[in-house]
Amino acid sequence: MAQEVRGVIAPGKGEPVRVETIVVPDPGPGEAVVRIQACGVCHTDLHYKQGGISDDFPFLLGHEAAGVVESVGAGVTDVAPGDFVILNWRAVCGNCRACLRGRPWYCFNTHNAEQKMTLTDGTELSPALGIGAFAEKTLVAAGQCTKVDASVAPEVAGLLGCGVMAGIGAAINTGNVGRGDTVAVIGCGGVGDAAIAGADLAGAAKIIAVDLDDRKLAKAREMGATHTVNSKECDPVEAIRELTGGFGADVVIEAVGRPETYKQAFYARDLAGTVVLVGVPTPEMKLELPLLDVFGRGGSLKSSWYGDCLPSRDFPMLIDLHLQGRLPLDKFVTETIRLSDVEKAFERMHHGDVLRSVVVL
Ligand SMILES: NC(=O)c1ccc[n+]([C@@H]2O[C@H](COP(=O)([O-])OP(=O)(O)OC[C@H]3O[C@@H](n4cnc5c(N)ncnc54)[C@H](O)[C@@H]3O)[C@@H](O)[C@H]2O)c1
Ligand SMILES: [Zn+2]
Ligand SMILES: [Zn+2]
Repeated sequence: MAQEVRGVIAPGKGEPVRVETIVVPDPGPGEAVVRIQACGVCHTDLHYKQGGISDDFPFLLGHEAAGVVESVGAGVTDVAPGDFVILNWRAVCGNCRACLRGRPWYCFNTHNAEQKMTLTDGTELSPALGIGAFAEKTLVAAGQCTKVDASVAPEVAGLLGCGVMAGIGAAINTGNVGRGDTVAVIGCGGVGDAAIAGADLAGAAKIIAVDLDDRKLAKAREMGATHTVNSKECDPVEAIRELTGGFGADVVIEAVGRPETYKQAFYARDLAGTVVLVGVPTPEMKLELPLLDVFGRGGSLKSSWYGDCLPSRDFPMLIDLHLQGRLPLDKFVTETIRLSDVEKAFERMHHGDVLRSVVVL
């Protein structure tokens, strides 16, 4: 029997989001229905609402979530009803070229539910990142459910489902930050702060936080930054060089997604250092750099999608570290809100007032 629950819909380009009744089918083969307990508000949800990702309105928003598996379809063996899970948007297929080469974090055939959730009039919904978790319940592919220790608070656990995992992974997976490294992070929102926490976890000797907003820099210190630079007041490239003996940082993580901050990252790294782009640019942005500088500075320039994470490997490990008091995931939750508050949360995000607003159900 399909069920009717409440969910947050983006009805059309730029229109305010609203709470609607949605119809969630029973799970088919390989699918699961999850009762959502918490779902963070991510920048990408706002991009969907604004039509920046695709035109497949109406969207069922929300994708940074944790909850309890309610029911599973035929053939599902990895999760069972009652399991506490974080939802992921990288349910690796096991069969694509990336998976077969042993690099499942690059999987390009990730699974989503086959059946559609709908409005009560039958209109099909497009779930954000194949999840759609600003809802009391959602339908996903079973592989999108990653079981973790159930003693963690759902509003904290859900954050690993997107932005916080992207940031931590940018540092520990893509950037491969190691003991004694110097690290600079440009842009200290949820993603940048998570990169700071990840660099701290990996044993970085110096972590330099760069932002335009002093409130963000104060928070970055709480996350593990050892130095802060307000790039409205000084040249961040000079400041990072000064703080690293004139060399630049071993790993520079760009967590804004703009050409000017990417250039700062490029010039603020040590000659053999690594630049990681985790901020997401828009289609019209262009980067211009002297090719000789690209050649003349060795090292590597990398991008990081979802922190190059492997949910089955990274989610349970990071939750365990959090429960041991070694990863302050709880500090990312600025406020908990209701389903009906998502539109307001977008405004607060736009004004830079929050790291994360999290809907609790
Ligand atoms: N790669 C991925 O898989 C992935 C996943 C989630 C989010 N993201 C992207 O990461 C980026 C950051 O996301 P977020 O949730 O932290 O956003 P956010 O808006 O919370 O944070 C952005 C931060 O950058 C700062 N900033 C803006 N312009 C700056 C500049 N010129 N110099 C220095 N700092 C500047 C802002 O003050 C803010 O603190 C976004 O582009 C988002 O789309 C990427
Ligand atoms: Zn694959
Ligand atoms: Zn997201």
